[in-house]
Amino acid sequence: PLAKNLFGLADLEEKIRQAYGLRKVVIVPGDSEVSSFSKRELGRAGAKALLSVMGNEDIIAVTGGSTLAAVAEQLTQPSSAHVKRTWFVPARGGLGESLEFQANTVASTMAKSVGAQYRLLHLPDLLSEDAYQSLVQDVNIQEIVQIIRQSRIIVHGIGDAMEMTRRRKLDSAIVEAIRADGAIAESFGYYFNDEGAMVHKMMILGLRLEDIMKTEIVIGIAGGKSKARAIHAVLKFGQEDILVTDEAAALEIEREM
Ligand code: F6P
Repeated sequence: PLAKNLFGLADLEEKIRQAYGLRKVVIVPGDSEVSSFSKRELGRAGAKALLSVMGNEDIIAVTGGSTLAAVAEQLTQPSSAHVKRTWFVPARGGLGESLEFQANTVASTMAKSVGAQYRLLHLPDLLSEDAYQSLVQDVNIQEIVQIIRQSRIIVHGIGDAMEMTRRRKLDSAIVEAIRADGAIAESFGYYFNDEGAMVHKMMILGLRLEDIMKTEIVIGIAGGKSKARAIHAVLKFGQEDILVTDEAAALEIEREM
């Protein structure tokens, strides 16, 4: 707390918390986009935020990405909670990330670190309409998707929309459509505009917007100056409860507010 006040971050946390009606905001010093130390701190703060709300028989849905991988790396066994009957699941299947950044990997790493269970969703990255329709019929997939949709906690990353289309190597026609729709942010496989409205979705199974809207605790974890507009857009979507970010993003978000 002392260090935070020295940096003036506690005031900024409160300002952002009030502006977006959040339950809690945590800001770590620095810019996690350029400093690996800051990225680790972001992971550590994210892990702490998750542990502070995790219960005994929870279902926790997680997304992929390098930030969530950093959170998974910092997660430790809680001293008091009995989490043996808690489940970690990926929020949505196949989003075209490299193995270490996949939601499946994040879910299993987190479960192992805290001594909980996990279920994975093995799906190809891009589903055709036909493939999607037949996978929806698959009993095993239906079962895990049902579990995912009952999550009490979601922990997710946030990305810049255009950056994520590049990372996912989407077809240029789709990228143009997403850009034309005014997408600023990407999260959970959904693209959002500056007002927080969903303007494009990827055909993947797992959490739907209506599931996210009824989830008790949504924790967004994202930092870096270049992500400020994206974070703002997702906060405008209005489903976040806890935001864990860094100083560089927070200072820019303050200007967006
Ligand atoms: O692809 C999973 C995901 O969580 C996206 O929804 C998000 O935009 C991105 O990863 C964030 O990735 P990173 O933390 O590496 O910036």
